[in-house]
Amino acid sequence: MTIHLLTLFPEIFQGYREASILGRAIELGQVSLKLIDIRDFARDRHRTCDDYTYGGGAGMVLKPEPLAAALRSIPGVRSRDEARGPGARVVYLTPSGRLWTQELAAKAAQEREIVLICGRYEGIDQRIVDEFVTDEISIGDYVLAGGEVAAMVLIDTVVRLVEGVIKAHSLAEESFRRGLLEYPQYTRPAEFEGRRVPEVLLTGNHAQIERWRLERSLEKTLQCRPDLLQPGRLDPEAARLLEQMRSKGEG
Ligand code: 6GU
Repeated sequence: MTIHLLTLFPEIFQGYREASILGRAIELGQVSLKLIDIRDFARDRHRTCDDYTYGGGAGMVLKPEPLAAALRSIPGVRSRDEARGPGARVVYLTPSGRLWTQELAAKAAQEREIVLICGRYEGIDQRIVDEFVTDEISIGDYVLAGGEVAAMVLIDTVVRLVEGVIKAHSLAEESFRRGLLEYPQYTRPAEFEGRRVPEVLLTGNHAQIERWRLERSLEKTLQCRPDLLQPGRLDPEAARLLEQMRSKGEG
């Protein structure tokens, strides 16, 4: 997968691209991260990329010309009305976008090419959105000073799901796979500062361990994210267990 990233602050990504799973994915040749400095496409002497908002109001807006030129420098990018076949997904990171989820990350991990536009200030000129953007994405209900941190979140969630980057069995059990939060994890030693690892995990009884883990997942989800426990979203085993836990809790 190739990720093209348009930003006014490419230096923010220097450390991150070398570290952790993204660094490994790049080394493995599974992912390529192309940083594009929007300012390199500004044509005036001061390399201006922002301007006042039409209609008045506080804050600056990213000008359309440098962004359009930067986008057109990427071969896979299509304008809205172009007849040439399907192009790369062009994602604009904005607090006004659709909420990013694990499900969207899994879909994005199948793409060959993704373009990310990091906004700054009050955002980008709407004509860029109308002409090029296929997806407007937000990572949560709060306002960041720019799209860069959100782009890192998006890249992090996608890259680890790209085929061959991490082992499939590591993904199978994690949070959200059953629509639940993850159960607690323990490693050695069996006793640490007087706290013992739950005995069931030391028994080697896999059926019991699975049941314990599902119960803890349900408990954790009830506590922290009850909104995830809507009827119909749970598999039958989890739904049955949740009913038992609820009736015990009331009794
Ligand atoms: Cl994607 N960008 C900005 N600037 N703020 C955000 C966001 C994105 N997602 C949540 N808040």
